[in-house]
Amino acid sequence: MKVRAVRGAITVDKNTQKEIDKQTKKLLTTIFEQNNIEVDDICFILFTVTEDLYRAFPAAAARTMGLNNVPLLDVAQMKVENSLNMCIRAMIVFNTEKSLNEIKHIYLDKATSLRPDLNSAERGAYNLNINIAIDGPAGAGKSTVAKILAKKLKMKYIDTGAMYRAVTLKALENKKETEQEIIDIAKKIDIRFAQDKIYVDGEDVTQKIRDKNIDNKVSDVAKIEEVRKIMLKSQQQLAKAKNVIMDGRDIGTTVMPHADFKFFLTADLTERAKRRYKQVSQIDKNMKFEEIKNEIQARDTKDKKRKCSPLLAAQDAIIIDTTDKSIEQVIDEIMSHVKGVGSDAL
Ligand code: C5P
Repeated sequence: MKVRAVRGAITVDKNTQKEIDKQTKKLLTTIFEQNNIEVDDICFILFTVTEDLYRAFPAAAARTMGLNNVPLLDVAQMKVENSLNMCIRAMIVFNTEKSLNEIKHIYLDKATSLRPDLNSAERGAYNLNINIAIDGPAGAGKSTVAKILAKKLKMKYIDTGAMYRAVTLKALENKKETEQEIIDIAKKIDIRFAQDKIYVDGEDVTQKIRDKNIDNKVSDVAKIEEVRKIMLKSQQQLAKAKNVIMDGRDIGTTVMPHADFKFFLTADLTERAKRRYKQVSQIDKNMKFEEIKNEIQARDTKDKKRKCSPLLAAQDAIIIDTTDKSIEQVIDEIMSHVKGVGSDAL
């Protein structure tokens, strides 16, 4: 065991005993939880308090948490121009097996601004600096899950299927059918992702690329080797910035072979068709379940059988069968793997 120290800080909205008590407890509880600190391990706790908080001592709040035998001390915070008001800082000295870089310093509420280099559990600002690849067949839930994860983990989501759909849309709109014509489109196309929308040559095509004509044609476009090479280049460019979640068919195998996490989502065909039917039938009442099921199956077969980077789970991918799972269960499962990464924030 070594003697180490952990730092933390929190702000208080009102100079009242109730608020000071509440925030002190919140700060201490979070520090204890995040660092697995037991009362018996604590040597002492030092609080410093800004002079605008004079209605209660943080140490008094700590006492009510069962820290009766731990030495506690409140000290006035030195006055520094433009520094944070209504702030309680704490330093806990304790015995631990943890190494210095395993200690999680905790800055909550407005006090997060004191240490922007750290992530706080409160803010949910994970900034893990990792890339996540999610692959799988159509309707396995990839994009739904990836979008939620991206929000939760504050990462950028890139839907690579949308890129192949965009090329397909341009080809259909311009009645281009030969391989060479489609390659020329892929070379020139300008695809941008912004605020949950996809823009192609400046036009918002978010809805258009989900059309059934695109569903039926996209796999034929995506199997053209030269088109894939062009898409691969821009996908890898996008993935260069860390904190990217990318979904598709070949992300774990080809686009991000060194992704920190790779997941392959599957589900049985009928379940996938049901999910797609639920989405599509809201827009197109004439759509038949069997038609959707056949379209998905045909697309899967083409995606799996193509020569160039087919739909395939990477050898090191974590395979999740989502057939009987809710979205929340899938997210929880993925989070349980990602949490192991050891970030301050988790
Ligand atoms: O994911 P989504 O269903 O929108 O993908 C549409 C199609 O784009 C897939 O069926 C596949 O043919 C192609 N695709 C691909 N490689 C990717 C992503 C999508 O070949 N990485």
